[in-house]
Amino acid sequence: MTLKMGWIGCGVHATQMLLPQLVRQDVEIVALCDIDGKRLSDAGRQFGVKNLTTDAAALIATGGLDAIGMAVGPDQHLAFGRAALERGLGVFMEKPPSGSAAGARELREASERANKPLLVGFMKRYSIGNKIAHNILKSGNFGPVYGLTGYYMTAPGYFAGNVDYTGFFLHHCVHYMDLPSFLVSPIRGMSAHKVEKSPGRLLFHVHLEFECGAIGTIAMGTMQSRGTPVERIEVMGDHQRIEIEDVIEVTWHRNPAFKADDPRALLTGDQDTLTWKPNFTAAANEDFKGYHALMTDVVPALQGAETAAPTIHDGVVAMEWLETLRSKLEL
Ligand SMILES: NC(=O)c1ccc[n+]([C@@H]2O[C@H](COP(=O)([O-])OP(=O)(O)OC[C@H]3O[C@@H](n4cnc5c(N)ncnc54)[C@H](O)[C@@H]3O)[C@@H](O)[C@H]2O)c1
Repeated sequence: MTLKMGWIGCGVHATQMLLPQLVRQDVEIVALCDIDGKRLSDAGRQFGVKNLTTDAAALIATGGLDAIGMAVGPDQHLAFGRAALERGLGVFMEKPPSGSAAGARELREASERANKPLLVGFMKRYSIGNKIAHNILKSGNFGPVYGLTGYYMTAPGYFAGNVDYTGFFLHHCVHYMDLPSFLVSPIRGMSAHKVEKSPGRLLFHVHLEFECGAIGTIAMGTMQSRGTPVERIEVMGDHQRIEIEDVIEVTWHRNPAFKADDPRALLTGDQDTLTWKPNFTAAANEDFKGYHALMTDVVPALQGAETAAPTIHDGVVAMEWLETLRSKLEL
C-alpha cells in the first residue's frame, strides 16, 4: 500500500539526495514544509506537491499521514521527531538524531512509547563499497577481523570567524561512530589524540576497541578539501584485506601464490585479488552513495516490516560514542 508521508526541510540535501530517491518507492509525498518560502515552493514544483506549509506543527497535524520524514538539523530533529511520534506517526530523520545523546535517548523512548519506528539516515552503511565489504565480511569467507583503519576528512565552511567544532562532530563524525561497528562489531572502548595547528584546523586519530576483539583507528579532521575524495577504509583479516576507496571502489586481497617464477601463472577466482568499481556511463541505477538503498529499507520499515534500516537504537549508540569522543578530545 502506498505510504503517505509528510516531509519537513526542503534544503539542499533533501531536494537533491533524499526526496528524489524516496519518490522512487511506493510513497506519496502528501505535504511539504520549510520555513524558507522559496525553497518550499521550488520543492513543491519539483515533487508535484500542492500542500505546502511553513509550520512544522501544522504539517505533522495533516490528516491521513502514515509517516513523517525530515532533513532539517539536530534540534529540529528532536522537536519534530518527538511531536510526530507522539501523534502516532513513524519517522525517518537524517542524522544527527538530535544534538546530544540525551536527545537521542529521548527520541528512542518516544519511539518505544508510541510503538512506532524511528529510522535514521546512516546511509554510509548502504554506500556501495561499504555494502560490498559488509557482505564479504558477513559471508563467512573473510574470517575474523583483526582491525579496521580509515579516514574521514572534511573542511567545513562554517568556521569563518567562529571556530566551533559542534557541527563537524554532529554532521560528519557521527557517521563514523556508526559505520565501523556496522562493519566489524559493536565498539566497546575508545581513546583519541588530536593536533590543532591553528583554530579550526584539526586532525585527530580515534582508537577503537571492538567487542569481537578487533582494533581500529580512524583519522578525522577539518583540514582537507571536500573537492577531493575524503574517505577510505581498510579492514584487515588473516591473509585477507578489504580496501574501500571513496566509498565506491572495493578491493578484496586474499592469499595468492607468487607469480614471477611460475610459467603457468594466471589469476584464479578464489585466491587472487578481486576489484570492483562502477561503470559510470551505464544508464542504470546510480545509487553509489546509498540513498536509494537506504530508502528501500526505510519505507517498508515505516510500514511495520523488519528491515536492516538503521534505527534510533543505532542512533543512540552513535551519539553516545560521539560524546565520548568529544570528551576524550576535550573539544
Ligand atoms: N547523510 C548525508 O549524507 C547528509 C548529507 C547532507 C546533510 N545531511 C543532514 O541533513 C540535514 C539537513 O542538511 P542540509 O545540508 O540539507 O541543510 P539545509 O540548511 O540546506 O536544509 C535544511 C532546511 O531546513 C529548513 N528549516 C530550518 N528550520 C526549519 C523549521 N523550523 N521548519 C521547517 N524547515 C526548517 C531550512 O530552511 C532549510 O531549507 C542535516 O541534519 C544534515 O546533517 C545528511
